[in-house]
Amino acid sequence: MELYLDTANLEEIKHAVSLGVVSGVTTNPSLVAKEQEGLTREEARLRFHQLIRQICRLLPEGNVNAEVLAEEAQGMFKEGKELASLAENVVVKIPLTAQGLSAISLLAEEGIPVNATLVFSVNQALLAAAAGASYVSPFLGRIDDAGGDGVALVSQILKAFRNYEISTSVIAASIRHPRHVTAVALEGAHIATVPYRVLMQMIKHPLTEQGLERFRLDWNKIIRK
Ligand code: G3P
Repeated sequence: MELYLDTANLEEIKHAVSLGVVSGVTTNPSLVAKEQEGLTREEARLRFHQLIRQICRLLPEGNVNAEVLAEEAQGMFKEGKELASLAENVVVKIPLTAQGLSAISLLAEEGIPVNATLVFSVNQALLAAAAGASYVSPFLGRIDDAGGDGVALVSQILKAFRNYEISTSVIAASIRHPRHVTAVALEGAHIATVPYRVLMQMIKHPLTEQGLERFRLDWNKIIRK
C-alpha cells in the first residue's frame, strides 16, 4: 500500500518526503484554507496554484492532488484542466456529485487523472470508476463519525472493483489514527492518505524506545569510566 500525506503544509510535506515514505500528497479546500487568509478570491486562486506548484516540486515523482472549487460540470472541467496544467504530476480531485461525474468523464476523455472525492458508498465508487476516475477516495473517518464502519466501506469498494476487474485505485481517506492505516492495508487498499500527525504516530512504538534505551545502557556498561 502506498502512503500519501493529507496536508497542504509545506513543512510537513518536506519532512515526510525526507523520510522517503510518501508517494503522494492530497489537499482539499479546507486544508489549503488553513495555510492562507485575508485574500481576495483571485489572490486565493493564485496562491492556491502557487502552493500546488511548490508541492509538485517537493514531490516530483509523486501524485499531487488538487481539488476544484466550481460546482457545475463545465466549471469543474475548466478548473480541472487549469490545475492539471500546473505540473505533470497533478491529479484533479472532483467531488462525487452528478455534475462531478460529468466533469470526471470530460477530464478522463482528455487523459487527465481524476480522484473522485467525498465518496461515502460503494455505488458512488462504482459511478466514479464508470465515469473514468483513476482514483476514488472513500472518507472512512467521517463514516465512523456518523456511526458507520469506514473500514468496511473501503473493503466493500475493493471487493466490488475486484469482481469486475475495475482498475480504479482506492485511496483510503479521512484517516484519523494509525489503526485505520493498518486496517485498510489488511483489506488491500491501494493507497492510504494520512495526516502528518498520524504519520508521526505510525513511526513510534514504546518497545522501540525501550529497546533503544537498553542497547544504549548495555553498550555503556563495557566502556571504562
Ligand atoms: O483526504 C480527505 C481528508 O482530508 C478529509 O479528512 O479528517 O477532514 O475527514 P477529514
